[in-house]
Amino acid sequence: MTLFDTHCHLFDDKFSEDLASVVERARAAGVRRMVVPGVDVDTSRRAIELADRYPEVYAAVGIHPESLADWDAAVLAEIEALTAHPKVVAIGEIGLDYYWDVAPRLVQQEVFVRQLELARNVGLPVIIHNRDATEDTVRLIETRANGVTGVMHCFTGSIETARRCIRRGFFISYGGPVTFKNAENVRKAAREIPDEWLVVETDAPYLSPHPYRGQRNEPARVAQVVEVLAETRGQTLEELARLTYDNAHRLFPRVEAGGSR
Ligand code: NI
Repeated sequence: MTLFDTHCHLFDDKFSEDLASVVERARAAGVRRMVVPGVDVDTSRRAIELADRYPEVYAAVGIHPESLADWDAAVLAEIEALTAHPKVVAIGEIGLDYYWDVAPRLVQQEVFVRQLELARNVGLPVIIHNRDATEDTVRLIETRANGVTGVMHCFTGSIETARRCIRRGFFISYGGPVTFKNAENVRKAAREIPDEWLVVETDAPYLSPHPYRGQRNEPARVAQVVEVLAETRGQTLEELARLTYDNAHRLFPRVEAGGSR
């Protein structure tokens, strides 16, 4: 089986002691590609360092809505400069977070829109974070993305929301929450996502799938996500692994196609 973890934060301090074994376990589980999204300038740089160190790791660069406490427009120029690196494959993660509300909502929206514009200027897809902000997130995708495509990271929304995103060229990414016992509503939507728009992720070190819920997550566990999705959708493991792997390459065209089956 060949797997693609489209979202893992390998720069996190929780991996500082044993990152080499985490990557080894990912390889052993069949994970051939990983995208590491930054959340600010510093972690975007660290994501690129990891991409330089590990052949199967790629980086995304961007400012997360939780990183806007001391927002300064100058950082966007730094993010733009980082996109020159050949293993930077997306702008992310970016979006809106009305749960933590670290910055005023209008500021979050402005930074989100400016990064959508940056993505268009540099020709990269975007990785979208949305927490308790579905209406504004989808509205800005519909009105301000202007042809930029990307992925709805760790999707837990309805099939109606998914369809609005797909219509704009956005892939739907499932992670640990789709495996949780009480997440029947998440699986209900997952069942109806068309094959060609589905991708998977871990969001490691967060959101560990069942039966590891609450533990530190790692890319090897994208296998559990694929297993539950396959069962939910009535597909074989191999089928689901193959289609999400191929879709992730369509989502991130800069990721090299090698290392496949
Ligand atoms: Ni994330």
